[in-house]
Amino acid sequence: MKKIALFASGTGSNAKTIIDYFKDHPNVYADCLLSNKPGAKALEMAKNKGLDTRVIHKDELNDPSTLLNYLQERGIDLIVLAGYLKRIPKEMVSAFPNRIINIHPALLPKFGGKGMYGMNVHRAVVEAGEEQSGMTIHYVNEHYDEGNIIFQASCSLNESDRPEDVAAKVLQLEHRHYAEVIEKLLSE
Ligand code: GRF
Repeated sequence: MKKIALFASGTGSNAKTIIDYFKDHPNVYADCLLSNKPGAKALEMAKNKGLDTRVIHKDELNDPSTLLNYLQERGIDLIVLAGYLKRIPKEMVSAFPNRIINIHPALLPKFGGKGMYGMNVHRAVVEAGEEQSGMTIHYVNEHYDEGNIIFQASCSLNESDRPEDVAAKVLQLEHRHYAEVIEKLLSE
């Protein structure tokens, strides 16, 4: 069985979609969910679905040794960032080479990098008058949103689209594709 660790900072709608997708899956399952926010709804959602959950404390961003032990002891094969807003310590990137992926709500390399998350992204896309937006799934390195791109899906925008409308279109793409991309990665 391939085991996934989910990292989420907020609602966890992507994490929920992934957990549900791999429920009763023959060779992949979502083992645990971690969050930097003790009160994150994602933690409660994951707990209710029977996953092990763990809060990541801010000092672990500088010294992730206990966090790494937790992940290695659980035999995690892939770390899936799903709305996780903290940077990944370089020790974690080297402990899980090409085994940490992230989803970004825009068509990288455009509209990426520090501070480009959530509605900031969609506001920038609308302000730039883009005719399309979309989502990017990429490997994680120690720089924000700069790892190799794995998959992208786009959606067309029209003049009347406000940032909230773009967010809704992009989130739909994320829910549609993230789990299938993970499944493909873990079957290779
Ligand atoms: C998504 O838009 C994702 O692209 C970004 O954070 C958001 C997560 O939303 N990384 P949710 O917590 O999965 O609902």
